[in-house]
Amino acid sequence: MIQEFKKVNKVSGELNLPGDKSISHRAVMFASMAKGKSVIKNLSNGQDVGTTVKCFQQLGTEIKKEGSEIIVIGKGFKNFSKPSKLLDCGNSGTTARLITGFLSAQDFETTLIGDESLSKRPMDRVTIPLTQMGARFESENNRLPLKISPAKEIHPINYEMSVASAQIKSAVILAGLHCESTTSVIEKLPSRNHTEKMLGLEVKKNKSGNTILVSKINYPVPAEYFVPSDVSSAAFFVVLAILSKNSSLIIKNIGLNETRKGYLEILGQMGAKINYENISVSGGETYGNIVVESGKLNNIEIPKEIIPNIIDEIPILSVAGLFAEGDFIIKNAGELRKKESDRISTLCYNYKLLGLQVDEFEDGFSISGEIKNKSIVFNSFEDHRIAMTFAILSMLLNGGGKVDNFDCVAISNPDFLRQVQRITV
Ligand code: S3P
Repeated sequence: MIQEFKKVNKVSGELNLPGDKSISHRAVMFASMAKGKSVIKNLSNGQDVGTTVKCFQQLGTEIKKEGSEIIVIGKGFKNFSKPSKLLDCGNSGTTARLITGFLSAQDFETTLIGDESLSKRPMDRVTIPLTQMGARFESENNRLPLKISPAKEIHPINYEMSVASAQIKSAVILAGLHCESTTSVIEKLPSRNHTEKMLGLEVKKNKSGNTILVSKINYPVPAEYFVPSDVSSAAFFVVLAILSKNSSLIIKNIGLNETRKGYLEILGQMGAKINYENISVSGGETYGNIVVESGKLNNIEIPKEIIPNIIDEIPILSVAGLFAEGDFIIKNAGELRKKESDRISTLCYNYKLLGLQVDEFEDGFSISGEIKNKSIVFNSFEDHRIAMTFAILSMLLNGGGKVDNFDCVAISNPDFLRQVQRITV
């Protein structure tokens, strides 16, 4: 489906967004692992989280909707059953990477498959440390399909991460939950820390990074989870409100975890007027309302240390950078090439359509010059964040714009278009 967007005159009002995708995946997994009844409130309605739900249902967990809540009757330690079919992780890297850690420690064989995009993404980042723990895998080129055979024994390791990635960290932690002795994961640059928070893990902080400790004593027990609304989905509307004239927007109950709100700090440093209201904490996760107004932005140098914290928001930050004073430059972000699309190349492709000067580097890109071309059909590359990035950019262009294969936004936010309608004139 090609979706057309007209230039937005003004943004105003209040917005509610779906539950945070990362926290939702983990809530479904941990509730399924705990023995007995857990309740999840405000679970993401995106397709990716639906994929995790289906996988755990295939493993024998009872997961059902009751009103606005999700009820999970978890199986308990190693009480899962061998699925009768292949486990389809769809488009979801988080499902595939985290479930690999969990399945490594089960006593039955499983095979993971995924869609075309996920089948191109690397799995060795998780299978390498998990193999060190005793896990057994078979795959071609370290991609899906991935066969996971029962291990003789899963044993603890001390794992120093070479890439800042919450998915790798979480895969090792999920396997480590099945060991009597302690596994430690050492990360030099902090990545999102929902797994540690939700499992209540001990984290030792020192100058050279964080060491996360996990063993069987941390295995999840039934709980009531409240999922704050998705800070990454909010980013698109924050940038739209800043860059539209005479605008102000309140986005409600957004997760403001310190490892996720880096983009709000960057936008603040660029000159954006962003405030926070009604701050609360639930399950260790801070959340509150984001209040944002239109304003002028200046590009700044984006520090290397913040990259893992803003990795999913770099696409939409580049739109902020395009309209800001000075040239937008992002570096140290090679991980963008490993996402639902190679986001360095898919962003550069689309910016070039506008006639901008775009320079692509191995670990980033820069944009400068003036927008020359009109009536653009942007290419989503079936990547939800690329689709929403260029939807927002279209809404900021005098002639508007179109985005192809727009349905992919349902991966994280199926109601994106309705939300746009609600807050724009
Ligand atoms: C996620 C971690 C990040 C992020 C992804 C969600 C998670 O990936 O890009 O959208 O929920 O753990 P990496 O761990 O590969 O950086």
